[in-house]
Amino acid sequence: MNSDTRVYLNGEFLPLGEARIPVMDRGFLFGDSIYEVIPAYGGRLFRLQQHLQRLENSLHAIQMENPLSQPEWESMLATLTTQYQGEDQSVYLQVTRGVAPSRDHAIPEGVTPTLFAIATPFPAIDPQVYERGIAAITLDDIRWRFCNIKATTLLPNVLLRQEAKERGAMEAILIRDGLAMEGAASNLFIVDDGQIITPPKGEHLLPGVTRDLLLELAAEAEIPYCEAPVRAEQLDSADEIWLTSSTREIMPVTRLDDRPINNGQPGELWQKLFDRFQAYKEELR
Ligand code: PDD
Repeated sequence: MNSDTRVYLNGEFLPLGEARIPVMDRGFLFGDSIYEVIPAYGGRLFRLQQHLQRLENSLHAIQMENPLSQPEWESMLATLTTQYQGEDQSVYLQVTRGVAPSRDHAIPEGVTPTLFAIATPFPAIDPQVYERGIAAITLDDIRWRFCNIKATTLLPNVLLRQEAKERGAMEAILIRDGLAMEGAASNLFIVDDGQIITPPKGEHLLPGVTRDLLLELAAEAEIPYCEAPVRAEQLDSADEIWLTSSTREIMPVTRLDDRPINNGQPGELWQKLFDRFQAYKEELR
């Protein structure tokens, strides 16, 4: 990505270096905005309907109308992704409440939302992630209550990921009231006695698009799964732990809080679903 990369801003495609947002934008002042991250494999957008539906849900939750119709989103995203035709990319899009005349917390009337979107080539995932798995740590979930909204107010997630990084881990698994909810930027799965368990959707976690696909793939593969609360202690005795997201796919966790999971190796069920996930991606290309 360089300053000539073409981005979308409020109806126009322009070079990144020329994209400007006024300082009175409420996204900047209050984090009054929501976002999506959509992978595109071989340039084909991955589970677009599901991402656009989640965008719609996030907008509704913060009392905003969707500024574009579904065909308008589709056409804008199609134009944006042709830039890296045929390549794997990730699209970031953000909708803010817009620019208001004064800094007042209450929602102003009659403001025009700010829309921004950028496509960037997907950085290759380090093969060691799949050969050796990743390290994670558990941390107290310090986020607010509505984690199902994909809001850009991400300071808690930033601090949690930073703490994980400083302690040599790639992700933090967040614990609220004794339950493991999700990662700081990923959803959580464990394997217990041959069954896949992932926490149920609700206010305390983001309904991940990758998460839902994984459950579909598990059903197809006839691997038993359930959506049920995961107690923090269940992480210690889990046979496998995985974390999923649009940018990092399915990561096997092989060290948790400095203790090995599954003898420190990515597990069998992870391998099975990882292979199915790769096959699903290939079909898109
Ligand atoms: N994050 N939970 C949280 C808190 C997340 O931030 C994410 C993704 C997920 C996984 O959702 P999905 O499978 O739909 O990507 C779960 C994105 C990638 C980000 O913030 O960059």
